[in-house]
Order: sequence, then structure tokens, then C-alpha cells
Amino acid sequence: LQKRLPLQDGEDVSALTRTPADPELAQMIEKAPGTVIADTMKCFQKIDECDMSVFDLEKSTGSALSVCTYAILYKLDLINRLELDDVKLRTFLAAVQAGYHPNPYHNSVHAADVSQINYFIMTKGGLIDKCKLSQEEVLAGILAGSIHDYDHPGYNNNFHTRTNAYLSTLYNDRSILENHHLACIFEMLRLPRYNIFSHMKEEQYREIRDTMVEMVLSTDMGLHGKIFSQFRRRLGECPEWHERKDDIRLALSMSIKMADISNCGRPKHLYLEWAKNIATEFYNQGDVEQKLCIPISPFMDRRKDKQEFPKGQISFMNFIVVPMFEAISEFLPPVECSLQHTTENKEYWQQQE
Ligand code: CMP
Repeated sequence: LQKRLPLQDGEDVSALTRTPADPELAQMIEKAPGTVIADTMKCFQKIDECDMSVFDLEKSTGSALSVCTYAILYKLDLINRLELDDVKLRTFLAAVQAGYHPNPYHNSVHAADVSQINYFIMTKGGLIDKCKLSQEEVLAGILAGSIHDYDHPGYNNNFHTRTNAYLSTLYNDRSILENHHLACIFEMLRLPRYNIFSHMKEEQYREIRDTMVEMVLSTDMGLHGKIFSQFRRRLGECPEWHERKDDIRLALSMSIKMADISNCGRPKHLYLEWAKNIATEFYNQGDVEQKLCIPISPFMDRRKDKQEFPKGQISFMNFIVVPMFEAISEFLPPVECSLQHTTENKEYWQQQE
């Protein structure tokens, strides 16, 4: 029970992956609160809900991203069905976790947060059923959430362009970071010890890779208007979402896009933690911009925190989050719980103003 996670190669993972409803496990949690497994299982009792706390999971495991991703894949029975090598998978997930920087916001806990809500949208939200997703698409969808900000440096795309950073040249100023996250992951996957796809048929691998690439590239907020209007247009046309590959990919992209900004749709105590973290990261960038004598980006000037931050949050929710969550709730009604939290979170800032 006292074991640290993640478990080492060859160790028994059954305690980690049993369902929280298991009476034996429930008894164990009750008898031994405060132990790693008990605290972890308590967090996982919420894995199918939109109010799970990845902060708590990080506190109990120190590796929320790898543990959460592993538990999701196990729960979906994908490790078994797609015959994923358990040692390689855990080695890969540990490396993914380790490749996130300790940024205030774009860190491995954010990736765990996105991964969990993306899983929620796909499962309880109904995306898997609506799009009749294949096992390969589900695997790609889950992994995309976990890797989507890998090696994020804590400065945004615009900063890379304006400072002529190496990555901006490499990716020609197009979705710089999103291309970088993907390229690093697929570079890592070239090494046999991480290659969880090595046993798959070529077309199976292509399907997974294409889906992951499409999803992670769609998290570039510079493309938000284009992707969202495409989604709204298709929603208005009421398609059978499973019939066309383009529609399936669009729906998966909307899932990860919603997950990426889902902090605004979490219960207030969790949302405020994320809001504080994103402000810290924004102000760090603003400080560097000031040192470089380039204009400080909007909402990144710490001297204007009190007058700008609440307004920024309200505008972000009004113009980006709420319209997106409303449209996705129309598409997948169970995700409406996030929309309700958004209303509460917006009210918080309105009261502060
Ligand atoms: P990124 O993670 O690149 O993509 C989604 C963007 O949404 C994120 O960067 C932030 O710029 C923005 N974002 C997410 N959450 C918030 C928030 N609570 N307040 C302001 N911006 C946010």
C-alpha cells in the first residue's frame, strides 16, 4: 500500500487499476487513508466525472500524467485489445511525463487534466458512440491529450515568432509549438524501448499517427476561428458523424480543444488554481518581453494584473469558452456540466470587478 507510483517494471498493477467500486478496494481505502494507493484510488473515483482533481492525484502520486493515462488505457481495455507491451507503455508514459517542464501552467499536471477531461468527453460525453470510433482512434485520442503540450517552454507561439526563435524558423511560424510537441514525441517513438506501436500493421499505425497529428495541431488557438466555424457548420447540417473521416477528425479535434481550455469549466476551487497558474506564466513571458524591449503581450503585464486579469478571464469565457462549450453540449449533452461551472466561474470575476 505504501508503494510510490509509478510502479516499477514487473510489479503488480492490479491495485492501481481495479475499479473504485470494487468492495475489497473500498474497504482498503477506508482502512488505510493517507497511503498512496488509497489516496490515488480516491482520486480515481472521479475519473468518469468533470470534477476530478488532478492536483490531488499529483499530490498522491507525483506523476499524475503517466498514472492517469495508464489508468484510462487500462479502463478502456486498450492495453489488452491492441496488445500494447506493458513495459514499453509504462516506459513511454514515464518519458512523456518527464518531458514536460515545471512551468506554472503548461506542465504535466495540465496535460493530465486535459487527458482526463478528453477521456470524459469521449466516453461519458458520448463521442465514441456518436462517431463510432475505432480502437485505434480511441487510443490516438487519449494519447493526443497526454502528449499535447510535451516540451512546452512556457512561452507562446507569438513570442517565438517575435523573437525569431529557432523553432519559429523550423516551423515557418505555423503552429510552432504544436508541431514541436508532436515532432518530439514521434522522434522519441523511433527508439525501440518507447515504441508502443512497433507490433502494429502499417495502416493501423498510420491511423493512430494521423489522428494524433490532426488533434494536437488543432490545439493551436490561432486556428480556433477556422476549426470552430467548420464544426458549427457541420453541426447545423446534422451529419451522421461516423460516416466521413473528416467529420470524425473534426469531432476529435473539438474534444481536445474543449479539454485544453476546460479549466474554465471545472469547479471553482480547481479553476482558480489554474487561473493563478496561467497568470504566473503569462507574467513570466511579459517580464522577458520587457527585458527584450519588445511590447508586452496583452494580459501579460504584471503591473496591470488587478485591472486586466478579471476582465481577461470574463472575455475569454464570453468569446471563446462559452460559445465552444455550448456548441459541444448541443452535440454531446452530457458535457453540459462544464458549461454550468463556467457560469459560476465567470460570476466570481464579475463580483471581483
Ligand atoms: P494553449 O494551451 O496554447 O492553448 C489554449 C489557450 O487558451 C492557452 O494556451 C491559453 O492561452 C488560453 N487559456 C486557457 N485557459 C485560460 C484561462 N483560464 N485564462 C486565459 N487563457 C486561457
